Amino acid sequence: MKFFVDSADLEQIGELNDIGLVDGVTTNPSIIAKSGRDFKEVIAEICKLVAGPVSAEVTAVEADAMIKEGKELRKIADNVCVKLPLTMDGLKACSSLSKAGIPTNVTLCFSPNQALLAAKCGASFISPFIGRLDDITLDGLQLIEDIRLIYDNYGFETEILAASIRSVNHVKECALVGADVMTAPPNVIKNLANHPLTDKGLAAFLKDWEKTGQSIL
Ligand code: E4P
Repeated sequence: MKFFVDSADLEQIGELNDIGLVDGVTTNPSIIAKSGRDFKEVIAEICKLVAGPVSAEVTAVEADAMIKEGKELRKIADNVCVKLPLTMDGLKACSSLSKAGIPTNVTLCFSPNQALLAAKCGASFISPFIGRLDDITLDGLQLIEDIRLIYDNYGFETEILAASIRSVNHVKECALVGADVMTAPPNVIKNLANHPLTDKGLAAFLKDWEKTGQSIL
C-alpha cells in the first residue's frame, strides 16, 4: 500500500520523506488555508521535495473553469495531480483532463456508485473519505471494500486512495481490504511505529547491554 501524507507542512512531509515513508502528498483547500501559505508556492515546494504525485485541488465548481484551473495547477510541476470534487462537473473535468494525459484525483467520494463513475471517467485516483463516514455512524471501511470489489470485477485501473484516515486502526483496516493508497496526517503515520511492548523490550535490552560494559563502535 502506498503512503501519501495529507498535509502542506513541508517540515513534516520532509521528515517522513527522509525515512522513506512518502509515496505522494494530498492537500485540500482547508489544508492550504491552515498552512497560511500561498497555494501555488507551497504546492511547488512540496513537488520539489517529493517525487510522487502531489494532489492540488481546483476550487471552481463549473467543468470548464475546473479544466482551466487544473491545467494551470499542472504547470506548477510534472508531479501535480489535479484533485476534483465528485460532482457531475468534476467528472466532466476528470474525463477531459484524463484524456489530455493529466493525472486526476476525484475527491469527496462517499458511495460505491460515485467511485464507479470516477473510474469510468478515467480518474487516476478515487478518494473515499472513511473518517467522515464514521463520524456520522456509517461504515467507512465498508465503502473501501465495496469499491475494491467493484473495481476488481471490471478491471478498473483507478487506484483506491483511502482518505480521511484518522487513526492507526484505519490504516491497518485499509491495508487488510486492499486499498491501493492511504493518505493520512503526519501524526497518524508516525504513530504506526508505536507499540508499548517495543518500548519495554528495548529498555530491557539496553539495560542488559549496559551490564556487559561493551560498545559496538
Ligand atoms: C484527502 O485527500 C483529504 O484531504 C483528507 O483525507 C480529508 O480528511 P478529513 O476528513 O480528516 O478532513
